Amino acid sequence: MNSEVMIIGGGIIGLSVARELHRKGVKRITIVDSGRIGGEASWAAAGMLAPNIETDTTDDFHRFGTESLELYPNFASALLEETGVDIELDKTGTLCLSFDEREESSLEETFRRQLSRGVRVERFSGDHIRAIEPSISAAAGTGLYYPNDWQVDNRKLVAALRRFADLNGIRIIENANATALLTSNGEVFGARTSAGEFCSGMTIVATGAWTSLIKIGDSAIPVHVKPIRGQMISFETQPGMLRHVTYSTQGYLVPRADGRLLVGATVEDVGFENAVTQEGLESLVMAGLEILPGLSPLPIAEHWSGLRPFAADGLPVLGRIPGYDRAYLATAHFRNGILLAPKTAELIADGVIDNANSTFFEIYGADRFAEKTTATVPL
Ligand code: GLY
Repeated sequence: MNSEVMIIGGGIIGLSVARELHRKGVKRITIVDSGRIGGEASWAAAGMLAPNIETDTTDDFHRFGTESLELYPNFASALLEETGVDIELDKTGTLCLSFDEREESSLEETFRRQLSRGVRVERFSGDHIRAIEPSISAAAGTGLYYPNDWQVDNRKLVAALRRFADLNGIRIIENANATALLTSNGEVFGARTSAGEFCSGMTIVATGAWTSLIKIGDSAIPVHVKPIRGQMISFETQPGMLRHVTYSTQGYLVPRADGRLLVGATVEDVGFENAVTQEGLESLVMAGLEILPGLSPLPIAEHWSGLRPFAADGLPVLGRIPGYDRAYLATAHFRNGILLAPKTAELIADGVIDNANSTFFEIYGADRFAEKTTATVPL
């Protein structure tokens, strides 16, 4: 069966694009995934929606993250209505803590810079932080509070988007590894996969860390994306032990409504080795205990890892595949795939349906890598 649109990669990005296309009238959509839908980085993530903390590198990236964050309240309520799944959008806000003078002065510098740029950020004393979060360590000094940095339960988001696909006739093909895009006269007309060849009017590559393994015709796809592993652990706590997502320089804690408390994350350049390690576990336990000493008697409930998709400059790759028609890239969201999903979906759907251009396609187009293949920013 041919599709109007085929999406290669059924993570949060591919699923969100499929939903947006369907809502805008595209009816024959196929998602092809090499494994289980939403089973990789989308499942492994922490679900933080933190443009002011995670995306402070450039004004454009901050704007992209903020515009995507602003879509989340409607995204969450529409998904609840469409699927019955509550993705637990939590707008309590996020804390960033300091534990010594050097960290305190770094936060102070961030505070002044962000205030001058109009970011909503407040400076709290250690005492004030413990008044609102009594379990936080007595060693925590001045911190910053970001009311507009939120979280969702990313695994529930995967479930909601999967349910949307199932309810709306979006075809899902799992365990079909796409190896090459099929091309003719400069147009992409489908993909070759381990489950056969599929034809489509438009093809969207949303394959995260695996993007550069796909060929286009006989050549390499013109973008270098590599995996960066993140390990996480979780504890079962009493709900309310911590209410805010909380960062330190060592990591972050993410409290879920049911009492699960996530601690993340390592940042490791180890290729496609998607596995947990003792060293990773120890560093996460230390990061967790620094913020919340009361975690120490609790057993670790889960330890997992995922592969973030990292392009050479750490920024997303969005827009047409250079040199080809009828194909888009939506990949390399690195640390912010959950945050950036709704905006990415909107841009790609408008591109596919209306041929709409976006300044974000110009900023994040794959052609910016014409001369570059190695990392230019620290991980
Ligand atoms: N967004 C947090 C992380 O990738 O660890």
